[in-house]
Amino acid sequence: MTGERFWPHDEQLLRSVMDWSWRRITDGQNPQARARPSAELDAALGDTVVPDGIGGHEALRLFTQVVVPATRAQDNPMNLAFVPAAPTEAALVFDLAVSAAEMFAGTWEAGAGAIAAENQALAWLASLAGWPASAGGCFVSGATMGNLSALVASRERARTRLDGAAPPRWRFAATGDAHSSVRAAATVMDCEVLAVPGDERGRMTGTALAEVLATLGPDPVAEGLFAVVVSSGTTNAGVVDDIAGVAEVCRANGLWLHVDGAYGAAAMVAPSVAPLFAGMEHADSFVVDPHKWLFAPYDCCALVYREPEHGAAAHSQFANYLEGVDRTVWNPADFAVHLTRRARGLPFWFSLATYGTDRYRDAVETVLATTRAVADEIRSRPHLRLVMEPDLSVVLFERVGWEPADYEAWSDYHARAGNVLCVPTRWEDRSMLRFCFINPTTDVDEVASVLDGLADAPPG
Ligand SMILES: Cc1ncc(COP(=O)(O)O)c(C=O)c1O
Repeated sequence: MTGERFWPHDEQLLRSVMDWSWRRITDGQNPQARARPSAELDAALGDTVVPDGIGGHEALRLFTQVVVPATRAQDNPMNLAFVPAAPTEAALVFDLAVSAAEMFAGTWEAGAGAIAAENQALAWLASLAGWPASAGGCFVSGATMGNLSALVASRERARTRLDGAAPPRWRFAATGDAHSSVRAAATVMDCEVLAVPGDERGRMTGTALAEVLATLGPDPVAEGLFAVVVSSGTTNAGVVDDIAGVAEVCRANGLWLHVDGAYGAAAMVAPSVAPLFAGMEHADSFVVDPHKWLFAPYDCCALVYREPEHGAAAHSQFANYLEGVDRTVWNPADFAVHLTRRARGLPFWFSLATYGTDRYRDAVETVLATTRAVADEIRSRPHLRLVMEPDLSVVLFERVGWEPADYEAWSDYHARAGNVLCVPTRWEDRSMLRFCFINPTTDVDEVASVLDGLADAPPG
């Protein structure tokens, strides 16, 4: 019995799903879509997983009428909260093609074509960092997985160098402004984070790292320090650490330098901020999420090693049933904590190939120009205070005289209205507002009118 005969074929259902996808890609999503309480959603969905099924048409109705309206529009140009998304049409539509092609992209033998194309996208990213053509890696689900995989590889290199001598405690160095996923990696790896104090903008500098290393013995690796993590830029403030200064200290001490560029390393492509990334050429690994500022859909993180063999030494899996895997070719499964993987780099590759890297450069520069224009708009309004000059595309600002509850009320009101999504954050223990720009179509005038509205009392 063939699969087709076993699962009833419903031409109309397939067309309905494709039609909905087409409209979503070309029309965007309602910005008022928002979470509802779980009990409400359960009631609205009813029982959907039942012995006879509810039928695809009913499931699709529930998807469009219940599921989607309770799911935030990540790619709306006025979604400025957390790190939003702005996938290109080409990337979104190609995600459908990747699903249709049902590719296993863990091993070369199974996914060679897909992997070759993904690797061209990775090579472009590596070239932006000034890395040699021998650099490489793979795409993973997100920077949480990318950071973890890179740190595991860096510890493996240190373990090899110590040749079996076990340090009292494994640890890596990071500032308090490193992303929560970096601390999560320490928990998973059962190791410590050696805290390096940030400067007044929260940046790790080479000087601060050297001061911390001076409290250790002459060989920090022998004391279990296997890596240093810098951010290019931080999630909360978009600040880029002093990569060049830190890289110099790492080289002098034989330490692996990992750059968490999940959000900000996309800006390596933009000449106006390229100097901030000086030193990337000396790093050992970096991550960047194309699903953030490189216009790809979820979930897509590029993990790149300067010397990929360190990734493979840590992550290659061996078993009787894997004996047939050719180890002389590029197997993405070797470079991260995974085996089976979707060719999740392909929508990014397709978008790059479609539009060209120059348009990517221009799109990121457009976002940077939007950010600078909005910073100017904030500076020109007496009811607002710009907290710091943006390095990249995050803007932190205060509404003079507001308390935390005022920010919450304002944020909630506008989320409901669907005109802007902006959630408060904290910097140096003060509540404030934070915009994160990602989308080249965000309109400065529209943001300026939101800033004007902040002159009013907070919504009651
Ligand atoms: C700097 C930084 N690192 C890591 C992450 C985690 O990335 P992901 O959500 O893709 O796992 C984020 C997410 O915003 C981030 O901004």
